[in-house]
Amino acid sequence: LGQLASGIAHDFNNALMPIMGYSDLLLTVPNILNDLEKVKKYLEMIRTSSEDAKDVVDRLRSFYKTQSDKEAFIKVDLNNIIHQVVNLTKPRWKDQSLSNGVTIDILTDLNDIPYINGIESELREALTNLILNSVDAIKLNGIIILRTYCNGDTVTVNVIDNGCGMTDAVLSRCFDPFFSTKGEDGTGLGLSVVYGVIQRHKGSIDVKSKPGEGTTFTISFPALKNDIKEKKEQKTTDVYLKPLHILVVDDDPIVREIISEFLEKDGYTYEFSNNGREGLTKFKSNKFDLVITDKAMPDISGDQLASILREISPQTPIIMLTGFGSIMSSAGEIPDTVDCLLSKPLKLQDFRNAIRDVMEKYN
Ligand SMILES: Nc1ncnc2c1ncn2[C@@H]1O[C@H](COP(=O)(O)OP(=O)(O)O)[C@@H](O)[C@H]1O
Ligand SMILES: [Mg+2]
Repeated sequence: LGQLASGIAHDFNNALMPIMGYSDLLLTVPNILNDLEKVKKYLEMIRTSSEDAKDVVDRLRSFYKTQSDKEAFIKVDLNNIIHQVVNLTKPRWKDQSLSNGVTIDILTDLNDIPYINGIESELREALTNLILNSVDAIKLNGIIILRTYCNGDTVTVNVIDNGCGMTDAVLSRCFDPFFSTKGEDGTGLGLSVVYGVIQRHKGSIDVKSKPGEGTTFTISFPALKNDIKEKKEQKTTDVYLKPLHILVVDDDPIVREIISEFLEKDGYTYEFSNNGREGLTKFKSNKFDLVITDKAMPDISGDQLASILREISPQTPIIMLTGFGSIMSSAGEIPDTVDCLLSKPLKLQDFRNAIRDVMEKYN
């Protein structure tokens, strides 16, 4: 588990970086909030990155469940992934480098390429790792070039930098897990993650490097032939339109804030309880159409609350929220006292779907 855990931590930290970087910019750059275009762009990147972080955790979960990986593969435009990754890593290669006296430019040379069959979050993760290695390799001023092209039935991406390069000794070990020349600053996991991603995508990776000149990584993927399935359409939002009065039991103020925004948006009314005991009292003294409860709570847990409520009122739907920690122990199992299990962080779309599904189930 040690290796797995540090791999997860590594991927997770990479996903957190843009979230921290961009929220930092939004909070600290004077007047930035007046530039709505920019605010929207930053928020979009924060969202993409949060989704990636969530995928990292889901990957951990799928380690415990039977692999249903195939479903995660969709038709992917690598050029688009590269655009995203360049933006997502910008706090690192632009702002942070500048403050260390390093100037880095990223040039993109993105050509017409076919789609590939891929997992977007994993591809972003792999490219992020390559870019961050190039950033680390550039000690003063440097350029990173990202190029895509197609030859025959493969799609190729080059990540080229004019950084410090690698000696043959380093080159021969760079893909080894935990091999790093960066001491405290390195985990040595970046390239082994890249390698794993490329393998899962049935691709190949090659690296050329010379000390003092720079490094070129070349990764190739099989191009998608026309007959492969399209990106799964997101279920369109059918908001459950009837008015609902909802009891929400959660002790986390941030979760409550988000849930109240979501519920108000769709015109529902709600009451909050801080804990299971209070929730139970509220439930007995009022009429609710739906209960949403956190799982891990001190005193009465969400599971206990759900089974008590089931006894009192079998016709009231219950949605349970679970946080990070409990994902491992629950491993995706839904307790039979609840109708639906939602994992945090919550996405509006999932939340709406859950409400609609459980309400339709009882009506
Ligand atoms: N673009 C690059 N330029 C120079 N050296 C690199 C580059 N990419 C990887 N390396 C070398 O490979 C090693 C392993 O990389 P990686 O697996 O990402 O771990 P880490 O970045 O944590 O050290 C690095 O420590 C570095 O010595
Ligand atoms: Mg690295």
